[in-house]
Amino acid sequence: MEKQFKINFEAIESYDHLDAIEKTLFDKAMQIRDLAYAPYSDFTVGCAILLENGEIITGSNQENAAYPSGLCAERTTIFYTGANFPEVKIKKLFVIGAPRKATSSIPIPPCGACRQSILEYEAKQKDDIEIYFASLGGEIYKTKSIRELLPFSFDASYL
Ligand code: THU
Repeated sequence: MEKQFKINFEAIESYDHLDAIEKTLFDKAMQIRDLAYAPYSDFTVGCAILLENGEIITGSNQENAAYPSGLCAERTTIFYTGANFPEVKIKKLFVIGAPRKATSSIPIPPCGACRQSILEYEAKQKDDIEIYFASLGGEIYKTKSIRELLPFSFDASYL
């Protein structure tokens, strides 16, 4: 029998359709993206995380001459958050990535390894994390939880 997963996401038309907090997350992700250390791919990614106490944590991708030693923006940011604010819930994660010199782009979603890492923090805090991934032009895709982006996910319940 063939079965399907249905993935729910919201397509937000433009920056103007964001609320004030979302606009701040977009702006901060864009700003930190400029500081990405990505000399090998020249693909720069910025991430902004909103905590339940209102604090915003930002990060960018960090590459390495030994390529696999580098790390995506999402994991750089969420690991820093987990290390420094282990008791504070994460409400939203906003990511924007594109080639450094690009002037337009499409919304680029978190890679598989980042989805798995984000899932771990959802499980840890027993609460959803809203995921936003944005284009340079302002079109944004939003999911209510990382589970929408990671069907058949592996978690601690299998251990
Ligand atoms: N990258 C991210 O930072 N996040 C993703 O979800 C996908 C890829 C980074 C890793 C590498 O530095 C560059 O983008 C090209 O893959």
